[in-house]
Amino acid sequence: MLNFSYSNNTCIHFGTRQIAKLASAIDKNHKVLLAYGGGSIKSNGVYQQVCDALAEHQVIEFSGIEPNPSYETTMKAVELVKSEQVDFILAVGGGSVIDGCKFIAAAAKFDGEPWDILAKNAKVSDAVPLAVVLTLPATGSESNSFAVVSRLATKDKFAFGSPLVQPKFAILDPSVMASLPERQITNGIVDAFVHVMEQYLTYSVNAKVQDRFAEGILQTLIEEGPKMFAEPDADTRANVMWSATMALNGLIGAGVPQDWSTHGIGHEITALYGLDHAQTLAIILPRMMWEMREEKQAKLLQFARRIWHIEEENADDAIRLAIAKTEQFFQQVKMKTRLSDYQLESDVVDALVAQLERHGQTAMGETKAVTIERSRKIIELSL
Ligand code: NZQ
Ligand code: ZN
Repeated sequence: MLNFSYSNNTCIHFGTRQIAKLASAIDKNHKVLLAYGGGSIKSNGVYQQVCDALAEHQVIEFSGIEPNPSYETTMKAVELVKSEQVDFILAVGGGSVIDGCKFIAAAAKFDGEPWDILAKNAKVSDAVPLAVVLTLPATGSESNSFAVVSRLATKDKFAFGSPLVQPKFAILDPSVMASLPERQITNGIVDAFVHVMEQYLTYSVNAKVQDRFAEGILQTLIEEGPKMFAEPDADTRANVMWSATMALNGLIGAGVPQDWSTHGIGHEITALYGLDHAQTLAIILPRMMWEMREEKQAKLLQFARRIWHIEEENADDAIRLAIAKTEQFFQQVKMKTRLSDYQLESDVVDALVAQLERHGQTAMGETKAVTIERSRKIIELSL
């Protein structure tokens, strides 16, 4: 196992009616920015629950944080935070609203051009404290310190991370999932699955706890995910929601190598062609697994045997079968797995490769073995 330091300082309030906890979880002296997205919270009752809980707080609102939150939109909120002297941010939404708020929190206290936080990894040395009411289990952003923000003008989608934007608390009420459109349920299951894979499918460092936690999350998603499409009960929702949080809250990634190359290529597909984040992952991961099968052989075989119970002795055959099962699972949760399913044809290959080069993504993965040539091959195989 590799050395690591681990802490997760987000307090989770999990379960039905936990939104009411906002009343006591945020100090009444704070001036709160209530930030949300396109308005789904107004039709599903979440907005009302939040307003009821914050009846005695001083609250101002910022709405319109879009999926794949933009620098352009979030900078408007930064102005508001500064002019209104907001000292607490409450993000109510999915990964996009949460990530947008993390950037707003850091940018409002940043000395200089805030885009540098994303483009140049400029150090974040202060941030407005923030908390979350999660409405879409998928990204894990509710209890991690990362955010991904896009600049529409330049088609750049960049991530940053800082312990200062780790949410102070997050409210996870699985009943809010009742209003999710099918497409977002699909996205959430697939994103969580791929988060686990990118921390698990590397090379073995004999980290048994991390491996078995990761396998437990994968198995839970495989068991519970498909049930989400036929009147899921409360436990199914709860298990899917908690899986997504646990998939990217630092626990299974502590002390193990990590490989974020599927995400690396995926972000470029979103930046150029606007596909949903998880849609890009379902396209790339199966081809990434095949292309990297020599480097990842031991873990791929462990995945084949423990997750899909594949007994096949020939390594390549077992791996091929495991990849096919993984892709079938994505399809079972109603996800498409090819670029051509979105009318993207061979001309996108050069454009995506150029974008990866422009962003210096030329040696990705746990051993930096995902070169630009191999990325090209993976994208070509994903058509
Ligand atoms: O805008 P609203 O009205 O909130 O509607 C949203 C949005 O249209 C809707 N929605 C959310 N909860 C709902 C709901 N509709 C009905 N009922 C509900 N309860 O769903 C749509 C998509 O929301 P979004 O927040 O964009 O989805 P997701 O949570 O998948 O977030 C995706 C973003 O997170 C980033 C992605 O790159 C992408 O920008 N990621 C963030 C990560 C992190 N911070 O750790 C890691 C991930 O790998 C990922 O990169
Ligand atoms: Zn993701």
